[in-house]
Amino acid sequence: MIVLGIETSCDETAAAVVFDGSQILSSVISSQAELHKPYGGVVPEIASREHLEKIEPVVNEALLKAKVSLKEIDAIAVTQGPGLVGSLLVGVCFAKSLAFAINKPFIGVNHIEGHIFSVVFDNPPVQYPALALIVSGGHTNLFFIPEAGKYKLVARTRDDAAGEAFDKVAKMLGLGYPGGPIIEKIAKEGNPKKIKFPIPKITDGKPDFSFSGLKTAVSRYIRQEGVEPAKDGSVNQQIKDLCASFQLTAIRSLILPMEKLARELKPKTLIVAGGVACNMLLRTEAAKVAEKLKVPVYFPSRHLSTDNAAMIAAAGTFHLKRGEKSDLLMTADPMMRLQNIEVDDEKLRKKVRYRL
Ligand code: KG4
Ligand code: ZN
Repeated sequence: MIVLGIETSCDETAAAVVFDGSQILSSVISSQAELHKPYGGVVPEIASREHLEKIEPVVNEALLKAKVSLKEIDAIAVTQGPGLVGSLLVGVCFAKSLAFAINKPFIGVNHIEGHIFSVVFDNPPVQYPALALIVSGGHTNLFFIPEAGKYKLVARTRDDAAGEAFDKVAKMLGLGYPGGPIIEKIAKEGNPKKIKFPIPKITDGKPDFSFSGLKTAVSRYIRQEGVEPAKDGSVNQQIKDLCASFQLTAIRSLILPMEKLARELKPKTLIVAGGVACNMLLRTEAAKVAEKLKVPVYFPSRHLSTDNAAMIAAAGTFHLKRGEKSDLLMTADPMMRLQNIEVDDEKLRKKVRYRL
């Protein structure tokens, strides 16, 4: 089955052609990062306008690179949500019109499920149950996956997403957007033990995530110590130490709940995906947890960690093969949630809290 994937949920216009849900024939990503840079974050109006400009050339390029004509496409998969409504609508409307014009089925895909499927390209098949940490600019969630396509949200962020914290700290320090890769690079030259930032403790004892306290602690440190934001790319030792210390705390705040839940739920595979999964410290720390627990951990290759359409095509293929498809009334769903199953197993029910 050859599926054309389309992704426009945030600030990347992406299209990909994927064979059988696991072989990438082409993957084209047009990033808007440069356009949003001056604002230190994504401006929704600019994002949707840019998607409108780019969607057709990006889809054409993906087909051309894959050497596949529209006739040879079996179906179209498109991100339905969650994301920015204006951005999502561009992809959804384009996918629907194209599917109608070529008379092929199409399916709306949850972006988070897409991130989970991003590991299928470069890893052995996932063994279930699996535990997936999805960590990006908009999401920080842990899903328990008893079998393919069934998801139980077992931990989530109480406030900001981890990637958002990287982006905001970078903005405070005048480092640019997106913050994650810039902070990771600068942190290499800093001392991660120089500043002790707090690791959040959720008072009700649930293994959830929280990043707003860390963000506030960084902002207080900047004020109290009179840290000058970087100018013209020059970064002093104080900023390097700050980046390294922040990064270490942010990664520990992700790893601790994951380790706690992995010990309880005993998955056969750990998955770490989403934009922040590009971070090498996160990868190293997650690998240590996996080694301790003697389970494999799967990451997407780095270019598939941030938003792309190959992962959307892969998730779409999974559903299409099960006979699912969307109809023309389907529309963008900016708050879309991943199906949250009821857990039948009595023992598991005690451990896994109902969330949504
Ligand atoms: O998955 P993604 O492309 O978009 C969303 O669905 O949100 O993730 C983008 C996020 C940004 O917040 C960015 O700062 C973060 O991923 N990110 C990183 C790194 N590379 C990207 N965070 C930490 N370290 C990185 N190397
Ligand atoms: Zn994403």
